[in-house]
Amino acid sequence: MTVEAPGLILPSDVLIIVMENLAIEDLISLSCTCKFVNLLVHEFGWSLYLKRSDRPSFTLQLARKYWSPFDQVRYNVTSDRWWTQAKFNARPLSHPWRAKFQPILALSTSMLLVAAGHTIYAYTVTNSFSLTDDGAPGISHEGSYSFANNQGEITSLTFIPYDHSERTVAIGFEDGHIERIYLPPFPKERDNSQPPSLIMKRTYSLGSRIMDLVESLSCSDSMLLSLSASGTAGLYNLSAESPLVSTIELDWRSWSSFLCMTSSLPYAVFGTTSPNPLVVHAVTPSSLHPTPSAILHPTRERSTAVYGITDAPPSAPWGSSKQVIVSGWYDGVVRVHDMRSGRRDSGVPGSPAPLRPMLTLRDPWSDEPIYSVSCGGGSSSFVAAGTARHSVVAFWDVRRPTEGWSAHAPGNDSSPVYSLICESSRVFGVTQSRPFVFDFGPGVTKETYPFLPSSTRSQRDSLQPNEDGIGYRVAEYNHSRT
Ligand SMILES: *[C@@H]1O[C@H](CO)[C@@H](O)[C@H](O)[C@H]1NC(C)=O
Ligand SMILES: *[C@@H]1O[C@H](CO)[C@@H](O)[C@H](O)[C@H]1NC(C)=O
Ligand SMILES: *[C@@H]1O[C@H](CO)[C@@H](O)[C@H](O)[C@H]1NC(C)=O
Ligand SMILES: *[C@@H]1O[C@H](CO)[C@@H](O)[C@H](O)[C@H]1NC(C)=O
Repeated sequence: MTVEAPGLILPSDVLIIVMENLAIEDLISLSCTCKFVNLLVHEFGWSLYLKRSDRPSFTLQLARKYWSPFDQVRYNVTSDRWWTQAKFNARPLSHPWRAKFQPILALSTSMLLVAAGHTIYAYTVTNSFSLTDDGAPGISHEGSYSFANNQGEITSLTFIPYDHSERTVAIGFEDGHIERIYLPPFPKERDNSQPPSLIMKRTYSLGSRIMDLVESLSCSDSMLLSLSASGTAGLYNLSAESPLVSTIELDWRSWSSFLCMTSSLPYAVFGTTSPNPLVVHAVTPSSLHPTPSAILHPTRERSTAVYGITDAPPSAPWGSSKQVIVSGWYDGVVRVHDMRSGRRDSGVPGSPAPLRPMLTLRDPWSDEPIYSVSCGGGSSSFVAAGTARHSVVAFWDVRRPTEGWSAHAPGNDSSPVYSLICESSRVFGVTQSRPFVFDFGPGVTKETYPFLPSSTRSQRDSLQPNEDGIGYRVAEYNHSRT
């Protein structure tokens, strides 16, 4: 684009309209033309750019309110670039636990929760008023909540976002109870350096108790979906006096669920071990439909199980659609189904006719089952998958699906990655021994994440800090290595 020399410039309202469609390089060139246009770009250009390139993130949301649009764009552009270069800081978030667990993560704009056994470890999101001065916001260990031992371990966990407290969660237990619990702030004054631990009582159980363990919980708006290991699915209206709306029986060993109330046709997705392991059921405010409205097929003969289900951010390359479902399978493949598509599998039994995936992602060097999936990352284009062994997380940019790569979590625990949460610049994950983060953004310092003094425990643990002392060494490999 050309802008005439000062004196012969376009009116500013026209310039602003022009800026609406400019790429980042053009905005930078434009801001170099003269003082007046530079001011205009700072005033309007960057915020217009931000509107078009939304990068949803929980942990950055608070800081973003203070950062200048320029700082935000700088952060976004740097982090997008680091994703394509597979450049990140890996950090463990705690020392390894003494026992092995199957932990679950939950993230809100102010807290990261890690549920392991009978305990929920709470990390608070720290603030940053300026990227340059304070660095990127991070998290710090605040304390833990412990639940009585005799009631079974925590087997599922999700934030309930709609009540805005940011501290209300739904917790599913091994003994079949589902509870809605407010996690109170920890007492301020501390007499020693140990993080505080609060003893929690289970009080408010949601609806009728299922008799087996609560494998999965998923929340959308004010509705909650639960799925038990033997296939009992429950739908709850969290703002109603008696929350339980309806239950259905899937009658198969079940693993994962996903609820979407914000689509024009709300739905629930279930991952099971059955001839049709991934099915979609229609949801209305008063019912969960007992028969599937769609069968999402793997296009392989062998039937297999689905352990992870998620959706993609609104700015993902395939468009802001709630009809795209991303799933992680036992056969080591991540499949992406677009429910708007008409690509049916002919000759396969089932009604409605099974839908073929629009994209399949695999690591050619590993057939390990996928335990967890999450979407986000650079340009909102990445799919991250936690695999069953050696704490490996696999990454694919859906714009270049054959060029994926994988990284081991710091410490290289010989464990599955049980739970993953990917936001614009960070991936939080958890193994049987500890939580960890991969941070693809600028501004990370030693203080961004909990400082773990190298004890004899962590040395035994083979944790190796990088030379800069900020991140830790992790093994990585390229899927297209020869
Ligand atoms: C980028 O800008 C958006 C605003 O649309 C913001 O949500 C996000 O936190 C920013 N940074 C990154 C890397 O996500
Ligand atoms: C949930 O229950 C409340 C109170 O009964 C009701 O106002 C609301 O419409 C219900 N929500 C849905 C999604 O049906
Ligand atoms: C991590 O474990 C894998 C498999 O056991 C091994 O190939 C790799 O070399 C290990 N990496 C590190 C950094 O210890
Ligand atoms: C993986 O290897 C391919 C081909 O050698 C290369 O083009 C690509 O940049 C590599 N990706 C990463 C993330 O290293």
